Amino acid sequence: MDTVPDKAAQRAAYLRQEIERHNYLYYVVNAPEITDAEWDRLLQELRALEAEFPTLVTEDSPTQRVGTAPAAEFGEVRHRLPMLSLDNAFSTEDVQTFDRRVRERLGVEEEVGYACEPKLDGLAISITYENGALVQAATRGDGTTGEDVTHNIRTIASVPLKLRGTGWPSLLEARGEVFMPAAGFERLNRDATTRGEKTFVNPRNAAAGSLRQLDPRITATRPLEVFFYAVGVSDGGALPGLHSEVLSRLRDWGLRTCPEARVVLGVGGLLQYFSDLGERRSRLPYQIDGVVYKVDSLELQQRLGFVSRAPRWAIAHKFPAEEESTIVRGIEWQVGRTGALTPVARLEPVFVGGVTVSNATLHNIDELRRKDVRAGDTVIIRRAGDVIPEVVRVVAERRPEGAIAAELPAQCPVCGSAVVKHEDDAIARCTGGLYCPAQRKESLRHFASRRAMDIEGLGAKLIDQLVDSGLVANAADLFRLTAAQFSGLDRMGDKSAENLVGALARSKQTTLPRFLFALGIRDVGEATSLALAAHFGSLDALRTADLDTIQQVPDVGPIIAQHVFEFFSQPHNREVIDALIDHGVTWPAIEPSGNREVELPLAGKTIVVTGTLSSMSRDEAQDRIRALGGKASASVSRKTDYVVAGTEAGSKLAKANELGVPVLDEADFLKLIAHPPAGP
Ligand code: IVH
Repeated sequence: MDTVPDKAAQRAAYLRQEIERHNYLYYVVNAPEITDAEWDRLLQELRALEAEFPTLVTEDSPTQRVGTAPAAEFGEVRHRLPMLSLDNAFSTEDVQTFDRRVRERLGVEEEVGYACEPKLDGLAISITYENGALVQAATRGDGTTGEDVTHNIRTIASVPLKLRGTGWPSLLEARGEVFMPAAGFERLNRDATTRGEKTFVNPRNAAAGSLRQLDPRITATRPLEVFFYAVGVSDGGALPGLHSEVLSRLRDWGLRTCPEARVVLGVGGLLQYFSDLGERRSRLPYQIDGVVYKVDSLELQQRLGFVSRAPRWAIAHKFPAEEESTIVRGIEWQVGRTGALTPVARLEPVFVGGVTVSNATLHNIDELRRKDVRAGDTVIIRRAGDVIPEVVRVVAERRPEGAIAAELPAQCPVCGSAVVKHEDDAIARCTGGLYCPAQRKESLRHFASRRAMDIEGLGAKLIDQLVDSGLVANAADLFRLTAAQFSGLDRMGDKSAENLVGALARSKQTTLPRFLFALGIRDVGEATSLALAAHFGSLDALRTADLDTIQQVPDVGPIIAQHVFEFFSQPHNREVIDALIDHGVTWPAIEPSGNREVELPLAGKTIVVTGTLSSMSRDEAQDRIRALGGKASASVSRKTDYVVAGTEAGSKLAKANELGVPVLDEADFLKLIAHPPAGP
């Protein structure tokens, strides 16, 4: 073999060190200094050098992450210290009991310092470093004996093959969770679908399936990551006295820990952490199923000790499950405002994501066919955060015999008009238009809704009655009704009837963008309504415009322009609009912007919403900010323009005050979105 020139050996050592340093900056510190492509070039160069001079290859070289031959089976690893599990808390009371017991056992009155971390939904791993080098990785197994997955763990780029810095114990067993981030999981399943292969049910199964591969080359292609959350055994080096300090030491040594970890005081701190994280849960890039609380002091942990298989110093506070199974009673078709037919699964009521769910949308016929949901099926329902519940999949093994696939009806189930579906459109529609009571009702609901004409008290049930009794056929009819007519309806007292007439009268004073939005033109949402209003300045200018002119409005594409044009060409729509104006619906004049770029009123503004608002959910508030061109952000910084603080606003409000960011209460916020600065 050729002798290796000094220069090559030095270069290889340098490259190895650089690659490891960039891994650390990328994965642990979250502050990369180079691009992925530059990193790839460093690795390529090292590969080339090692290929030329094979004696340069070292066990811990970043080129050696993937071993070659698949194993016949996994070896067994006996844990030097058992890997325990955690007791669960499902309610505030459970957490209070946990804290009380901790303090009673320790005989302390004062509040205890706790380390809080997300409970990652993956699988536990134990990784042993000897003299700073990764020598073994094992799964938890039964807690006493696990499987040797060293070769697979070595393929995970964020796990260092060598510890960084100094001061690590000569024997260090770091424990943590292997997981698959949400984006990687989706990509993996998308690729599997394209190849016609089986998909994984959830990220946790995907992580487990990927780690337990006999061929590490397969594991290497899977997007796995690890967060470390504890030290098992250690020898030949001291560790600090607090769990939180241990975590920061692990980080110094290049072992990645969860950036959401915090130290809090007492049970109040625990519950605050739980609600803060719960609120952000659906936006985290990985799945978590709860929060883990640990007494921060390692000495107190020791004094508390263990009961059977779980420590007394820690507990897992679980979020309500986001997925549950239930049975489909039937598939029904709902007809929307524009005639779109949406299949809806009627379910045996099931408690999921903190609420009872009895319906789940299947979106459209293609989705229904793809998921093949049938009456009688057992299905997995998912409800995460505030999003609407959805059917994840059918449990095929539990399909009853003779279950029949649902078909797209040929006639509208509400009005009997023909249903059409164009090939290039996923949506089937009822052709009944406003003849169809379902479309009429939905149009009226939309017209009256808060973000449109904002007619207080005119809810869905009332609209059903008004349409079914024939009192109201279109939006203009609403303004003809008297208090006497309203009070003749079910569950309507004289007082409510008066209130409603008052609300209708108040709603007549509106804005042009709201009015356009309220008309319910297909695909014309709030942002498009704003753009149209700003461009044309008046309803007359818009409704007499030709197709070309409408197409010139910034952000209005040819399809929406077509919908707008057609809407105003229909005599029926023109009549209703005229009648509304005759009834006194009016708005302040706007200076038309013509072909100038329309700037949305909150463009360039970054707004953080925190705490609980009484008039809308936080998601809704953020939608409105976005609809007006603003950026809804989750964290407060010097660049934040406003913080909207509802009740029980916590750390974000404090941060805003600290940084001097203007704080709006709910009333200010409602004013801001009703009359945004410098907008139409
Ligand atoms: S500490 C003795 N911290 O939850 C305590 N566990 O039911 C050992 N887990 O097997 C665990 N995130 O796989 C701890 N931040 C976290 C965790 C966590 C997820 C898992 C772990 C363990 C199970 C315990």
